[in-house]
Amino acid sequence: MEGAAATVMERCDILGRISEEPGRITRPYGSEAMRQVNDVVAGWMRASGMTVRQDAIGNLVGRYEGMGDKTLILGSHLDTVRDAGKYDGILGMMVALTCLERLHERGERLPFAIEVVGFADEEGLRFGTTYLGSSVFAGAFNPKLLSLKDANGVTLADAVRSFGGDPDGLVGNGRNAGELIGYCEVHIEQGPRLETHDLPIGIVSGIAGQSRIVVGFEGKADHAGTVPMEGRRDALCAAAEFVVEVEATARGEPGLVATVGEISVQPGASNVIPGEVDLSLDIRHQDDEVREQACQALRQRVEEIGAAREVVPRWHLRQEKRAVTFAPDLTALFEQAVGELGYPVERLPSGAGHDAAQMADLGPVAMLFVRCREGISHNPAESVRPEDVAVAIEVVNRFLELVAK
Ligand code: HGY
Ligand code: MN
Ligand code: MN
Repeated sequence: MEGAAATVMERCDILGRISEEPGRITRPYGSEAMRQVNDVVAGWMRASGMTVRQDAIGNLVGRYEGMGDKTLILGSHLDTVRDAGKYDGILGMMVALTCLERLHERGERLPFAIEVVGFADEEGLRFGTTYLGSSVFAGAFNPKLLSLKDANGVTLADAVRSFGGDPDGLVGNGRNAGELIGYCEVHIEQGPRLETHDLPIGIVSGIAGQSRIVVGFEGKADHAGTVPMEGRRDALCAAAEFVVEVEATARGEPGLVATVGEISVQPGASNVIPGEVDLSLDIRHQDDEVREQACQALRQRVEEIGAAREVVPRWHLRQEKRAVTFAPDLTALFEQAVGELGYPVERLPSGAGHDAAQMADLGPVAMLFVRCREGISHNPAESVRPEDVAVAIEVVNRFLELVAK
């Protein structure tokens, strides 16, 4: 199997060299880099006996025909965060592709078709909302998002058009759930558990729920040299107080994670008191109630900080996704495949979001994690061992045989 793992690693290297930014991997939705990656992956799909299409938002869909009228979907995402690693999303796609290549080389047809889907936007780097690609595929796209603007003022609708898609075709064209056996995704763990337990792969039990919120504070821009401290309505000081509260809230609740990853300051000059600040807030927990309570508590604090500092607070829930528990029957087949290959079955939840969370709207979903070094992800230091990739390929091949039984 090491030949297939070597091909997967080599392809991850090839795609890792396609980026919007020199010297680091950044592939936002609808970018030229995305277009190039879709073209390269489409070529590999066709060479594996698949027909290939790009849907209305730009998801890349390769189809390998089988007998019978059902379809199993495999896949992951091809977009990245800024300054990403080579394996987040991409590894799952390449493992799926190499398993189809093996069927094609053997001229084998299963009693179901397989579609391998490269989702066009899972990270939400460009528009701040996650699962754009898989929400269209799952028939769950929210058309209100079409007016979202990126940092250059380009709307999602225009970005879809420029990418060759059809903004009017994003709603109501989801995959017909009745045709599907389910969706399975292989993904790096993006956490340290498998490495700590010295395991190459793990079975994912579910995905944490997440809320993506935009918080703002509107104070008063003024002269940094002339306004006394007590007279200021400094929006950045209000934001700073809130950011520290976010960390304290998460530290105070087991299993809760909360992150402020983006912040913008207007007008943004060293000698001007910040008049306006917007920041992103990402809150997650495996239990939706805990996450919702944390959101309420932090929203209350935004109001209180705003009142105390005479700055106008803003709170906008951009997107939220409830926690997902994976399908027991499909997961059991993954567990059986892992067991038959002689590996212990380690079940673990995912703190990271995955397209599987959105695909769960369509039907049964299961995921397999692959160990990654020190659990590092969303970082160019992301790395996997070829021998672990070889194990993941063996598990998926065996899984396909079990589904076919
Ligand atoms: O944010 C996430 O959890 C995923 O990487 N999109
Ligand atoms: Mn990611
Ligand atoms: Mn991912």
